Amino acid sequence: MKVLVIGNGGREHAICWKLAQSKKVTHVFAAPGSDGISNEKVKSVSIPADHHAELMTFAKEEKIDLTIVGPEAPLVDGIVDSFNCEGLTTFGPSKAAAALEGSKTFAKEMMKKYQIPTASYEVFDNVEAAKAYVKQQGAPIVVKADGLAAGKGVVVAETEAEALNAIDQMMEEKAFGEAGSSLVIEECLRGEELSLMAFVHENTVIPMVPVQDHKRAYERDQGPNTGGMGAYSPVPHLENGWVEQAEREILRPMAEAMVKEKVPFTGILYAGLMITESGPKVIEFNARFGDPETQVVLPRMKSDLIDVIESTLNNVEMNVEWKQEACVGVVLASEGYPASYEKGVAVHIPKINDDIQTWFHAGLQEQEGHWVTNGGRVLLLSSLGKTIEEALSSTYHVLEKQQWDGLFYRRDIGHHVTSRR
Ligand code: AMP
Ligand code: GLY
Repeated sequence: MKVLVIGNGGREHAICWKLAQSKKVTHVFAAPGSDGISNEKVKSVSIPADHHAELMTFAKEEKIDLTIVGPEAPLVDGIVDSFNCEGLTTFGPSKAAAALEGSKTFAKEMMKKYQIPTASYEVFDNVEAAKAYVKQQGAPIVVKADGLAAGKGVVVAETEAEALNAIDQMMEEKAFGEAGSSLVIEECLRGEELSLMAFVHENTVIPMVPVQDHKRAYERDQGPNTGGMGAYSPVPHLENGWVEQAEREILRPMAEAMVKEKVPFTGILYAGLMITESGPKVIEFNARFGDPETQVVLPRMKSDLIDVIESTLNNVEMNVEWKQEACVGVVLASEGYPASYEKGVAVHIPKINDDIQTWFHAGLQEQEGHWVTNGGRVLLLSSLGKTIEEALSSTYHVLEKQQWDGLFYRRDIGHHVTSRR
């Protein structure tokens, strides 16, 4: 079987790495992929993720059996619709279904209509009405740009002034362009945040193991929001029935709701959850694998990824096998990330214990036999261990062995777990 993975980050590396272990897979192609993703079984082809027509031509010429789309942008732009029109099998949502991620208004309206637990909210396309609502509700309150804003279009305002300023920034100053022409203003939820992803096709839902991501750039959860600085799975300090509750009250009802609305969802449904005192509530839905969540969830998967995807597409809810071990991933990022950073910085990648550890490449390229940076998040070291503590210890053992000039990483990944023990 030949599989094409669209994207070039750590998430796509993890997907390709897992696919390469499948007995059913003979060839994996990553477009555009990267030097670090490529190996004997995985070939990078230099077609950018937004060149849909070229990707389709490639898939037809290579007789690709299955295409998996990593990032949200091509999904929201309808790449799956184009592939499906040509009879190419994909695992990802149509443009209409990807609106669960691409339009916060659509996601919130679906949750309201189908009584899926989430923060209460209102939608505004008018500055004065938005401000009046903030004044009436008071702080804390959350202001969100409706469209895609690379994870930056959300302000959790602790004061009314901060919320009013966010409205001006998004609507008047167009800080996120058209993504901010409509706003969702919602209740601020308190609790612990985590992610639950599931393989979905129509009414079929196969949840993965839960995972917690660290979104802030700096230790003690300080600094700007990023794509994610590290992740771990399972989430032992929170598991007393909430996974089943989230599956029952959130993932299944949403999959069924999409079928009822005639926009059936296929692909990875990612629920970003807040575990509140009254149970799990949705912060956001994504329509794809999380990054860096995938880099710690797939190493825990014992089953063949192709079996799981095929089973999902055949509407059979197979029993996915997971390792008992924990997995931890720590991101190395360029100094300055998520704002501006230098590229072309030389990086030495230390040796690891290949039985339990993997380097996932996110933003490196090979230059004359050496690795140099070409992105914000650069590498992720993923380690399995009997416990989160053991996995953390072998990860940091490797990272602390050398200086990482021009890069930084958080030394407190998993602190929600370790601080409680
Ligand atoms: P989002 O892009 O919707 O995931 O939001 C980015 C971050 O803002 C989330 O990871 C949360 O930490 C925070 N956030 C979003 N919505 C809320 C909410 N209703 N209450 C509290 N925090 C929120
Ligand atoms: N790590 C958060 C995301 O993938 O959206």
